[in-house]
Amino acid sequence: MGQAGKVMKNVSIVGIGSYLPEHILTNADLEKMVDTTNEWIVTRTGIKERRIAAENESASDMGAKAALCALTNAGISPEQIDMIIVATISKDMVFPNTACFIQKIIGAKNASCFDLEAACSGFVFAVETARQYIVSGTIKTALVVGSEKLSSLTDWEDRGTCVLFGDGAGAVVLQSKETGRGIVDTIMKSDGNLTDLLCIPGGGSRCPTSLKTIEQRMHFMKMSGNQVFKHAVRCMYDTGVELLDRNGLTIKDIACVIPHQANIRILDAIAEKLGTTMEEKFFINLDKVGNMSSASVPVALDEAIKCGRVKKGDLVMFVVFGGGFTWGAMIVEI
Ligand code: UT7
Repeated sequence: MGQAGKVMKNVSIVGIGSYLPEHILTNADLEKMVDTTNEWIVTRTGIKERRIAAENESASDMGAKAALCALTNAGISPEQIDMIIVATISKDMVFPNTACFIQKIIGAKNASCFDLEAACSGFVFAVETARQYIVSGTIKTALVVGSEKLSSLTDWEDRGTCVLFGDGAGAVVLQSKETGRGIVDTIMKSDGNLTDLLCIPGGGSRCPTSLKTIEQRMHFMKMSGNQVFKHAVRCMYDTGVELLDRNGLTIKDIACVIPHQANIRILDAIAEKLGTTMEEKFFINLDKVGNMSSASVPVALDEAIKCGRVKKGDLVMFVVFGGGFTWGAMIVEI
């Protein structure tokens, strides 16, 4: 009980950090691995290169590095963290949770720790979850991490998916502040009828790991790209508009849209439907990092702040979409 039940209103991002592994895998490298071309990848996805974690580097190793940057940025010590939520689909182990591994690395001995799995929407879902704990007065300080080692879940023989994903981590520290609006509003949605379109079918309780699941490569990500594409455009656009409308805002009030970075054509279509352009309103880094699932938004936000594209006081809107399906939007004053 950080604040003895005192109800807080404004929850802000008070620190942010990110980490990208050193190794860069270019489209030219992929041309040597599967039947693809740089031209196909760039025109169909916008991705030029992505980062790949070292063999001995796990989601918690990357997440801890991002977390330490966020703590330094916030001027907060690890002992001050009351809760760690890690959004990931590439956990270190099935259990214990990745947040516990990060807790140990950074020495956040007073935190309660759990993971949240909402695929590429995970970061927004986790920030909103942490916000509710702070608003209710249950905790004072939360660390939310989006960390993914997607290279460990990628079928490097499947050209339809292996060109899309990358590894990395981003983290934010959340606290209640007297000034500024912080997180203005959030929408989170899901449709469990569409689980099969984007999933890892093997390795869970439905289809436990066996020789058969491994032979059939069921432990890797499977995606019906085309169908996911259509749902992603519609869901991210609809939710973004719903969130703007219910807060009496228009896209003109938003300084920067930070979307889940899956495909440049998805983002182009959303920008056009919103009556804007990517150049004007969207921050894009997928060309350099690919799709990092739950790490995409916090890594992009950190980069956008560092390069001056997002400034203090700006209203930023996150729009996300991922497996489940899960999707959502969040408006934050930075
Ligand atoms: O992060 C969660 C959300 N994820 C997303 O939002 C991803 C959504 N989907 C997509 O981004 C796109 O659907 C992809 C990039 C995955 C695929 O693009 P597409 O325009 O939907 O291509 P497609 O799957 O319809 O494939 C078109 C053609 C096919 O060949 P045929 O059947 O027309 O002869 C594929 O076999 O492109 C072929 N193809 C490739 N060719 C060269 C698929 N992957 C590759 C490749 N290189 N890497």
